[in-house]
Amino acid sequence: MIVANWKMNMDTASMAKFAVELNWFLSIKQPKNEIIIAPPFTLISMVKYLMSPLGVKAAAQNISEFDLGAHTGEVSAKHAKDVSCEYIIVGHSERRQNNNETNSIVRQKAELVAKHDMLPIVCVGETLAERESGNTEKVLLKQVAESVPDIRMDRFIIAYEPVWAIGTGKVPSNEDISFAAKIINAQLGKLNSFENNALILYGGSVNSSNCQEIMQISGIGGLLIGSASLRSNEFIKIIDSLG
Ligand code: PGA
Repeated sequence: MIVANWKMNMDTASMAKFAVELNWFLSIKQPKNEIIIAPPFTLISMVKYLMSPLGVKAAAQNISEFDLGAHTGEVSAKHAKDVSCEYIIVGHSERRQNNNETNSIVRQKAELVAKHDMLPIVCVGETLAERESGNTEKVLLKQVAESVPDIRMDRFIIAYEPVWAIGTGKVPSNEDISFAAKIINAQLGKLNSFENNALILYGGSVNSSNCQEIMQISGIGGLLIGSASLRSNEFIKIIDSLG
């Protein structure tokens, strides 16, 4: 699974250009991986309209922790479902840090995503301070235990995104990524509703030069890509190099 997280970037014109280029590539090569784009809310319908004929799926980057009602400016899971989103990213570290999203809010959001028949992509990851103080394992165990709802889902999708690797050009060692995946799976194994291994994505400074190596790391089944997903040629290179 390759997920493009566009964050608060792109507009109708740049998205249309991206769609033409990606569609051209997808018309000559059927990739092995599922391709998912998480644009800003305003572009979701257009992404679906332009790119779903060639198999691209849409995700939202966030939803409200409330299901409906008087929450001015919020967008609910139901709204995301209404524009045919299949996945929703919840608990991205930028939201945890900038919008004070706690594990319990993230969990509430993930529950709403599942309630409306979509799959949450729950993000976890340690900060640099947590890593340097030797607390990575503790932080990941707590984030998974408290942010992932114990409900039956088609697939559990967790994105391991060390906060210090996002947008910095720094990537953890293969051993560190594999260790994180192991911890996450072990913690998920304690949920009553968890049956098989989770799909664990890695995110943080992924690009066309490091994507192949990261995808080969034991326990990693996909990528969550920020800045390298904004340029169609770079994003296509990533998809192409992964088969
Ligand atoms: P990056 O962002 O690829 O730009 O590091 C990843 C993310 O925040 O999901």
